[in-house]
Parts: sequence; structure tokens; C-alpha cells
Amino acid sequence: MSTSKDLEGRHLVLGLSGGIACYKSAELVRELVRHGATVQVVMTDAAQQFITPVTMQALSGRPVFTSQWDARAGSNMAHIDLSRQADAILVAPASADFIAQLAQGRAGELLSLLCLARPRERCPLWVAPAMNREMWSHPATQRNVAQIVADGATLMGPGNGEQACGEVGDGRMLEAKQLRDRVIAQFQPQVLAGRRVLVTAGPTFEALDPVRGITNLSSGKMGFAIARAAAEAGAQVTLVAGPVHQATPWGVKRIDVQSALDMQAAVMPMAREHDVFVATAAVADWRPLAAANQKIKKEGSGTAPQWAMTENPDILAEVARLPQAQRPYCVGFAAESQDVARLAREKRLRKGIPMIVANHGPSTFGQDDNALLVVEDGQDTELPRASKLQLARSLVQLVATRLKH
Ligand code: CTP
Repeated sequence: MSTSKDLEGRHLVLGLSGGIACYKSAELVRELVRHGATVQVVMTDAAQQFITPVTMQALSGRPVFTSQWDARAGSNMAHIDLSRQADAILVAPASADFIAQLAQGRAGELLSLLCLARPRERCPLWVAPAMNREMWSHPATQRNVAQIVADGATLMGPGNGEQACGEVGDGRMLEAKQLRDRVIAQFQPQVLAGRRVLVTAGPTFEALDPVRGITNLSSGKMGFAIARAAAEAGAQVTLVAGPVHQATPWGVKRIDVQSALDMQAAVMPMAREHDVFVATAAVADWRPLAAANQKIKKEGSGTAPQWAMTENPDILAEVARLPQAQRPYCVGFAAESQDVARLAREKRLRKGIPMIVANHGPSTFGQDDNALLVVEDGQDTELPRASKLQLARSLVQLVATRLKH
């Protein structure tokens, strides 16, 4: 699978202060570079106790800066040169001591000097804390963290879990890929800031008995990509997912469900609290009228079992029928195997929704890319073949322009 170049043309300063989590920064720099960024690594003395500049130079492809007296900087002012070139400074790991230095505006070595000297209006500071849970929860650290946030820094993490010291709790640095995704998100236009978006994704599973059921091949990839793109665009996102194997995107609240009735029960009470509803789920059209309580055995009967089926509720149509004042902007999906545009237009009218996104199904199920046709009243917009995440971002941009202010 090709790597998306979401960070192409971006220049980042990656600062390492002292902490065991420095080992994760080696993978982080690799991830940032793989996604197209140029990365200038800056390390404090303490960071060099944990990982060498040699490793970071090899992975970033650039000599590492460790001192404000480094004569390689053209003006001999490394803190000015490096911060003027950067689109952002990411400090990962940020130790308790380093955060304390930031909070006080200290500039005793190159990395803190760089953070202080950066042009704040165009070079954001992102901080990924990494420390023992007692250090993290200490009132002094919490006070310092609140101060740097008030001064304009953005926190990335910390995460929760097992720590190098053997204790368990808050304070772990986020994993390299999580930080990479947070960095990518920071560069997306905030077109849905302040909006709430509800997404359904994946198949549903309609039980026949406790071990069997009816489902379909939907992978959930498109719905998860839309949830991620909406969160990147600044929305508060709720994702109602059928049984799928997809990682929950950062910042997204996920609710797992099984059947169409479960999905309906999750969606309906929440729908009116959201500004946008995007229904990507491949909801089963029918379910067995009654599922067997016990596993159905084959021996003895000699005949195959029969199930009476009944139709599932159409969740999208039900949301679209809410009174106008309570109704989110509804986006449907249509997987058609032929005559895509015409069938999608008819489906949009049948469901009573302003926008339907059509694609060639089922050939797109499980694929990483797709091509979409967005059908609205009186106009069609083609979104040419691209990764599902790129398509999701384009769709989010389009939807944002349709929302009333
Ligand atoms: N949908 C839903 N609840 C259902 C069925 C569908 O919310 N019970 C939503 C889907 O998430 C999707 C759109 O409605 O946004 C698809 O409509 P549907 O009528 O199911 O289209 P197809 O599955 O393509 O069905 P068909 O072409 O067989 O009518």
C-alpha cells in the first residue's frame, strides 16, 4: 500500500527532551518523513542520555542540533534560524522538567530557547508529555501544563497504560503513529469546528441463533475515514459501528453495535443533537423474525431450517423524517452495480435527503481507494479515484459548505 504524502512540503522541528519515550521518537521521525515532511531534530542534553543523535540523524536525513552555540547555523543563532524555517515545533517526549521550563519561559538550552523564540502566530507548539504517572498528576506539573496551554501550546496526549517504571496510569507518550496522525490532523482546514457529526459504518449482523447470523462484506473503511476526516476538520464526532476490524480514529467517540435494531437504537436518540448525519453503514435489509435461543442442531431433522424474515427499519430515512428544526444535514451512501447516477438520484429522493454519495458496489468493499459521485438537487459532483481518506476529506469540505451558519 502506498503511503499518503499528507505532510508533503511541511517542515517540522522535532524536539526531544529527556525520557525513556525517546525510543518512540525514532519511529516518529520515520513516520513523519515517510508522509512527506522534512524534519529537523533538536535534542536536549538529557535526551542524549536515552538515544543518540546518530540514530536521529540517520532517520531524519539531517544533522541533529543539540546546542545553541552550534556554528552550523548561518547567523550562528540556531534558535532563530531553526524556528523561522519551521511550520511547527513538536516536542516529543516532553519531560516534566521541560514543560516546567516552557511554563516559566526559560531558555537555558537550544530546545527551550527555540520554543520561546518561535513566531507564535505561524509556528504552533505541540507538546507530547511523557513521564511517570505521579509526576504527571503532581499539582506542579498540572499547573505548568495548564500554563503552557493558556500560552498557546497544544497538548498531544499523554496516553494511559503500562509505564517503563512498571507502574500503570496516565503519562505515557502517545505512540509514534498516533502522534503522526495528530500532526497530520493539525494541518487540515478546520471547516467543521464547533459542529457535531454522527456517522454509521460497517455491516450489521443479524443473528439466526447464538452462533450464526446474516451479515455482509462491508469493511467499514469509508465510514471510519469519514469519521477521521470530520474529526480532523474540528468536528466532535460520534461513530456508530457494526462489527468491523478498524482502529478508532483519534478524537472520535465510538459506539459498537451488532444488528440494525441496535444501530437504530443508538442513532435515533442522538441524531437531533448532531449537525450532520453521514450514513455509510451497509445495514442488512432484513432480519430473521425471531432468532433461536439455542444453537440450531442439524442432526435428526433431515431438513434445512427455514426462517421467516422481516424488514429492518431504514435508519437514514427515519433520521431524514425528523422535524426540520431537529434534523441534521443527512448524507446517504449508495452502492450500485449499474446505472449509478440515475439510481442514486432516485434513492436520494426516496430517502428524502439533500445529498447521496454513489459508488460502484460491491467492488469497492474492503478496497483502500474508490471513486465517488456526489448527487444533490440539480447537481452532481465527481470525486475522482483516490484513497478513501482523501475522498472523505473532500466530502467533508463539500458538506461543510452546505451547512447553514
Ligand atoms: N440505510 C440505513 N438503514 C437501512 C438501510 C440503509 O440507514 N436499513 C442507509 C445506508 O447507510 C446508506 C443508504 O441508506 O446510506 C443506502 O440505502 P439502501 O436503500 O440500503 O441502498 P442499497 O443498500 O444500495 O439498497 P438497494 O439498492 O438494494 O435499495
